[in-house]
Formats: sequence, C-alpha cells, structure tokens
Amino acid sequence: MNGTEFIIKAEDSGFGAEIGGVDLGGVVAEETFAAIREAMIRHKVLVFRGQHLDDARQLAFAQRFGPLEGHINRGTRHDALPKIQVFGNVDQNGNTTGVHPERGTLVWHTDKSYVATPSMFTVLRSPSVAREGGDTLFADMERAYADLEEDRAARLLELHVVHDWKRSREKSNERAATADEIAAAPPVEHPLVRTHPETGAKALYLGNHTSHVVGMERAEGEALIAELERHGTQAKYIYRHRWRDNDVLMWDNRCTVHCVTGYDAAKERRIVHRAVVQGDRPV
Ligand code: OGA
Ligand code: MN
Repeated sequence: MNGTEFIIKAEDSGFGAEIGGVDLGGVVAEETFAAIREAMIRHKVLVFRGQHLDDARQLAFAQRFGPLEGHINRGTRHDALPKIQVFGNVDQNGNTTGVHPERGTLVWHTDKSYVATPSMFTVLRSPSVAREGGDTLFADMERAYADLEEDRAARLLELHVVHDWKRSREKSNERAATADEIAAAPPVEHPLVRTHPETGAKALYLGNHTSHVVGMERAEGEALIAELERHGTQAKYIYRHRWRDNDVLMWDNRCTVHCVTGYDAAKERRIVHRAVVQGDRPV
C-alpha cells in the first residue's frame, strides 16, 4: 500500500471532503497543491487528518493560496506571527478561563464579511480539542440559494446588506468594539447573493456580521436575513466536523457559513489557530 497516495473522500452530499495522503507540514508538490485547491473549490470544506503543523508551517501552507490577512481583534493575534490568530479558553498557566473566546463564532457567520474584501479561505488547526462539543458546523449557501423558489431567488439578487463589526459584536454579546476597531472596520455593503468568482455559482451571503438590508425597514430586513439563515442552515445543508487531534480544517468563506457548537468552557480545553487568506470584493 502506498501511504502517500493523494485521496479525496467526499461526503455523500458533495459538501465537505477528507483529503488523505498529504503531509501539509512537508514539501507539498505543485501538482498536489493544485489538486488540493481544486478539491477546495469543489467541496467547499476540506479536512486533513493526522497533520503535525506548527504555526510557521500552517502560515506557509495558507500563504500558498494568496496573501493572508490579520484579524481586527489585535488582542488575539499570535505574538510572533501576527497573521496567525489564536482563539482559546486556556490561560498562560494552562487553566481554563471558563469563557469561549469570540462568542461570535458560536453563531453562523462567514469570516470577515464586515470588510470590503472578505476572507477567501480559512485554515484552522486545533492544538487542543474539546472532547465533548466544540464541533465546527458548515452550511452550504450555494445549495441553500439554489433551492429557493425561482421568483424569490431572482428578487433577492437586487438586495444589498450592510455588514458591520460593531453591530456583529452587539448581536453576539461580545465586548463592545473599540474606537480603533470601528475606524478599521466601518460598515460595508455587500450583495445578499454573491457570485463565486471561480465557479460562477450564486450563494446567500449572510451571517452574524450582517446589520441590515439596504433600503428596507430595519426590522423587516433583519427578519428577512434571519429567515434566509434558518432556511440555509437546515440539517440537509450542513456538514459537521468533529475534531480529532492533529486535524487541519479549511473552508471557502465565499459560499459557506460556519459556527462552533457549545462546549463546557470551564472543563474542556479548546484552542484553535487560524490563518485567513484574503479574498475579492463580493459581487
Ligand atoms: C474561525 C471560526 C470556528 C471554530 O476561526 O473563523 O469561526 O471551530 N472558528 O473555532
Ligand atoms: Mn469564523
């Protein structure tokens, strides 16, 4: 048996796939890298098991997809590698803090939709995995859009939505955005339905960072977004990632939303290190 054979094991739905036979911390040949990128576009969520990456290698792998972006929240940036963001509930003494960092990750969102050119891919590894809970869920926003009734799907193409870091934090009951953060991430407008720049497929583009629908009464717009989110996050559109030690997880933010499921933040130790590849302006 050849242990280095490149394998794609796709979910039955086609949404999400496990990639085998690749050592992301080693030398990934150009051809293999191209196959990974192709699988990424096709399956939207990729899982690599049994990887032994450190931060520098995670960064190097993520960087092959394009320029990385730092997070707006400076407090959770890696000390030496600012393009790596660390979210965890473990303090310097190794004790749990009892609090999940970034409560906004517990609700459906797509990374950094509150900036003009939001994230393309996120590459995540978890040096400490919760034993119970703390799964990462993904919902396929292309299938969700494709399943809408035709007239409605056409009408939604007209709408634009404001995404806002400040509002996002209010909605998830996080510490308020600072003045610096608000200046760095003022509200932005994106189409409610975006077209994937590589495949041309249309997807609902929404989640916790949304504030309101442009030109629509606030409550009405919020209700519309909430309703579409409920539609798009039905079980049939979801892929659930149950973390194992040494997993690397990667997703396309342009056509998916994701969230973390609850876990006992006093008991479990859950840490993720993330690197984010910058994307284009949604159209
Ligand atoms: C993220 C995120 C999910 C997780 O890093 O963008 O939402 O499972 N993380 O920690
Ligand atoms: Mn996220």
